[in-house]
Amino acid sequence: MKRILKEINFKLLSCVFAGFLLFVLLCLSIFSALLTSKTEQLPIAKKASADSVNISSEQELDINSFINSEIELSLKSTEKGFKLEYTALPNGTEYEIYRKVDGEKDFTVIETTQKNKFTDSTVITGKIYSYKVRAVLKQKEGVITTEFSNRIKRKYVWFDKSKKMVALTFDDGPGKYTKAILKCLDKYDAHATFFVVGSEINKYKSSVKKADLIGCEIGSHTYDHCDLTGLSKKGIKNQIKKTDKRLEAIIGHKATLIRPPYGYVNSYVKQVVKKPIITWNVDTRDWATLSASKTYKAVMEEVSDGDIILMHDIHKSTKNAVLKIIPALKKKGYQIVTVPELAGYKGKKLKSGKVYTEID
Ligand code: NI
Repeated sequence: MKRILKEINFKLLSCVFAGFLLFVLLCLSIFSALLTSKTEQLPIAKKASADSVNISSEQELDINSFINSEIELSLKSTEKGFKLEYTALPNGTEYEIYRKVDGEKDFTVIETTQKNKFTDSTVITGKIYSYKVRAVLKQKEGVITTEFSNRIKRKYVWFDKSKKMVALTFDDGPGKYTKAILKCLDKYDAHATFFVVGSEINKYKSSVKKADLIGCEIGSHTYDHCDLTGLSKKGIKNQIKKTDKRLEAIIGHKATLIRPPYGYVNSYVKQVVKKPIITWNVDTRDWATLSASKTYKAVMEEVSDGDIILMHDIHKSTKNAVLKIIPALKKKGYQIVTVPELAGYKGKKLKSGKVYTEID
């Protein structure tokens, strides 16, 4: 009996031991299976998804370059509304135009188009609009989008091209009187062109921003207010580049025009500047007289349709004159516009390297 019991005990123990061994082996195999499946899961899944959408490496590269494309948005004020232009991407690209009217909480899509320009003709004079654009590529596998473009926020003012227009231009600023001039321009839905000196820009960032916001044009008056005709090609380019860089940091775009200091240009400068060159046909000589009444008279007695008037927003006398000139010009039936608006409304296209003294 004892022997039998011993035998059973031994059998039982060996059974338990074998069972335990089996259990350990099973656990080990499950654990290792889990480990390997985890490390292999990613490449397998990636391969499967790539296979299922059937993207060749070349297509994958195109999609990557599409996603990484930077969309540059620019805005022009025209008779028909705000004209938006943005970076062109490959065929089949759609562009979503987002707009926010000042006071609204969110941007909404106002247009989806395949063209790389769009005119928003629903804008109203005096209202401020913000825009941004992104590109969309629709494929059978899904929709791919780029990042949003730069944002542009601007007040719209409509002008009547059948009525008289004049361009007030200010050199040598921005300065401490620029703000007051801007406030007056805004009040009368008027625009001006500011030819800024690059080295002064950072002292009056808010004025530069405000000018851009209310629809004024920012032109370049070089970085150091130097005579461009006395510089080398590198010197001229440097004067323009340094000013543009500062402007880009504040308003998101470069100067569209240039006014060479003292109005000095030669054929060499024309070749190098790569922007329309704007001089003037009415010189108020405000800097010499420093008299508000003389500056006022110089404008009001000389002004005619299409004129480009030269003033300097760094003098108190000029500021005082401008506060009277703006309402007086409006009363005489003049619309006060920027130089590009003057050209655009009169059907002229401003060309790089060409000198304009007035717009007929
Ligand atoms: Ni100057």
